[in-house]
Amino acid sequence: MARIGNLDIGSFSLWLSPMEAVTDPPFRSLCKAYGADVLVSEFVSSDALVRMAGKSISKMAFEANERPTAIQIFGHDEQSMREAAEIAARMKPDFIDINWGCPVRKIVSRGAGSGILRDIPKMISITSAVVKAMREVGIPVTVKTRLGWDADSKPIVEVAERLQDIGIAALSIHGRTRAQLYAGQADWTLIGAVKQNPRMQIPIFGNGDVDSAPKALLMKERYGVDGILIGRAAIGNPWIFRQIKYFFAHGSLLPPPDFEERKKVCLEFFQKEIEAKGERVAAQEMKIHYSGFFKGIPHFKPVKAELMRSGTFELAARLLDTYKPEERLQQ
Ligand SMILES: Cc1cc2nc3c(=O)[nH]c(=O)nc-3n(C[C@H](O)[C@H](O)[C@H](O)COP(=O)(O)O)c2cc1C
Repeated sequence: MARIGNLDIGSFSLWLSPMEAVTDPPFRSLCKAYGADVLVSEFVSSDALVRMAGKSISKMAFEANERPTAIQIFGHDEQSMREAAEIAARMKPDFIDINWGCPVRKIVSRGAGSGILRDIPKMISITSAVVKAMREVGIPVTVKTRLGWDADSKPIVEVAERLQDIGIAALSIHGRTRAQLYAGQADWTLIGAVKQNPRMQIPIFGNGDVDSAPKALLMKERYGVDGILIGRAAIGNPWIFRQIKYFFAHGSLLPPPDFEERKKVCLEFFQKEIEAKGERVAAQEMKIHYSGFFKGIPHFKPVKAELMRSGTFELAARLLDTYKPEERLQQ
């Protein structure tokens, strides 16, 4: 059994990897319904939290049925990271996750996200300050990071030991360096090396390019991790969690959802997004998900193009209602 502090998350857990502008509460609930075990908020800026910026506060919201769930914070300054963790802790998440992996230039240039990978002592001291502050309120702290800064600097095995020594409760590793951004293939060998290091006691979660049930099984078996974080492959595809669990249990692939299920789930999700953010913002955010929702549906491209332009729930629903996959198949 893997534990994050006192929280039992099972021997192998599937996480919805945190994604800015994607993993909001409606999407997290949807993934939970299809089998995601652990959910993490979008990252929240520690500086903005300390200023009590409204958008950042609302990013931390979660429903009781989402547990276990974490709030992820990012930043570069020890005091504001500690204070942000204290503010986030008032929402009573199951744990606080620190983002030391974001490769976005604006964030990295300030030494936040994966920018900290150029200054490991600072990474250790900020993390330690957050861990100590959270110990007082009984909330475990986890870290999500990358292998290192670039091809010449991949210190993750040593970094993992140091982070464990200062008291983090678990570590998630994306198998790329900052320099790689999202290019090339994720390399899980060092994730495996961290997990196999006899000094490591805390759970280690692997991340990067898991986009199918067979790949999830391969990574689980080959690298021995305690769980997997799934990011891009879950966008518009909450079914991936159910598919992986089915494959683990039965060794065969669950058929993909049919068009009717996809349509139903997509429109219900759109409705929840509207309730959360209003129709204009919801319609904008749905654009991220349409490709995933209808992947593999025959001759869907023109419908998708219209969906992208649709802008309202009513129009999107009408477009989907008039699409008949059987007729398209005969074309
Ligand atoms: C649109 C987008 C937003 C992301 N936002 C975050 C974030 O807020 N926090 C974080 O730790 N990682 C973030 N990531 C990284 C993902 O969590 C994940 O580590 C990465 O996409 C690799 O996993 P994957 O191959 O399963 O997508 C983001 C990735 C994408 C594509």
